[in-house]
Amino acid sequence: MKTAVTNCAQLVTLAGPPGPRTGAALRELAIIPDGAMLIEDGRIVKAGARREMEASVSGADSVIDAGQRVILPGFVDAHTHPVFAGNRAAEFERRIEGASYAEIAAAGGGIRSTVRETRAASEDQLLAAAQRYAGWFLAGGTTTIEAKSGYGLTLQDECKLLRVMRRVKTLRSIPTFLGAHEIPDEYRGRPAAYADLVIQEMLPVVSNRTAGKPLAEYCDIFCEPGIFSIEESRRILSAARSVGLGLRMHVDQLSDSGGAALAAELGAATADHLEHTGARGILALQAAGVQPVLLPGSVYALGSARYPKAREMIQAGLAVVLATDFNPGSSPTPSMPMILSLACTQMKMTPAEALTAVSINAAYSLGRGAEIGSLEAGKQADFTIHDCRDYREIAYFFGAPSVEAVYIGGRPVWTRSHIAAQTSERAVDKY
Ligand code: NIG
Ligand code: FE
Repeated sequence: MKTAVTNCAQLVTLAGPPGPRTGAALRELAIIPDGAMLIEDGRIVKAGARREMEASVSGADSVIDAGQRVILPGFVDAHTHPVFAGNRAAEFERRIEGASYAEIAAAGGGIRSTVRETRAASEDQLLAAAQRYAGWFLAGGTTTIEAKSGYGLTLQDECKLLRVMRRVKTLRSIPTFLGAHEIPDEYRGRPAAYADLVIQEMLPVVSNRTAGKPLAEYCDIFCEPGIFSIEESRRILSAARSVGLGLRMHVDQLSDSGGAALAAELGAATADHLEHTGARGILALQAAGVQPVLLPGSVYALGSARYPKAREMIQAGLAVVLATDFNPGSSPTPSMPMILSLACTQMKMTPAEALTAVSINAAYSLGRGAEIGSLEAGKQADFTIHDCRDYREIAYFFGAPSVEAVYIGGRPVWTRSHIAAQTSERAVDKY
């Protein structure tokens, strides 16, 4: 079964040498103007100028006419927390009225309030919520997410969250165990005892490979004074590494506590947040080849102006990644176009650098650089049609609906026109 995609104003391929992009290469998008692409059995066979692809297009079983719009690789969101019950709109209002994120957390709200609601929810209730959010990711052009647990904080509840993610089939997901997200209510004041539970009871189960794929591929931690200290983080992550999990870390979000240096020491795949990381931390990440995952949505939603130093990181040669950090507290957005806008306006990344950071670099940070993140022969046909003629319009027209259609493995999984058709039918009913 061959499918051709044709009449693309810009086919933004992100083709390039293997490996995550750094420095000037972050701006090289390998755009094919007036491009076309041939897909067979869910994978890309070739991409090129439309006039060179005419024979392939006419020989295809079906043709997708992009109508002179922009085609991009599906976004790869390398940091999300999509399985939780309830939401924290009330806390959002309290923060607007002056309470800080840290104060709310210390008083028992924040992550711990979501943990209480999530523990009380059934697996099916959580699945329904996660499926709703999966639809939101697709509507923003995201085809792969990294999905963290972290709102269960008991062995049973953490496994419940990881099983929910496994049951969400509408987009690709890569599971991360975040049992060390907070100290749960029943362990308050006893962080070492909770760390023991994570290491002794949870890690062996979530990493178990005897029944096929383990529940988790990566282990993450919230490394922050008052949550998990540098020493406690080192202990938990060393144990995670020894059971075969890759490492990702929440570091230096609220203070510069040496989290970036720890990520470098442990050889983590990524160090995420980094709002307070200075020159030394950046150097350590570079020397160790750790990819920074920058989360401007959480800075914006917390009403802070302290964005991570993206330009210094690019200057230092880091393979920057951008992600939403979708979660009910610090970053309630699933929208990559919103993240692109913030990266450009607040962190002074160019639209091209930002696009590389949400596609090929994000894919490499998840060990999937050979499969997804660019539109090249042999890779999965995960792509999106955006309603514009120039890719820069996506970050520029912030808040505007950008995505027209989403394809995963060559199959259509979401279209705006479908939603529009449904909406207009309903409107007709009403009047
Ligand atoms: O990445 N910092 C820790 N974890 C999340 C927030 C989770 C929450 O507030 O529910 C973050 O910002
Ligand atoms: Fe996070």
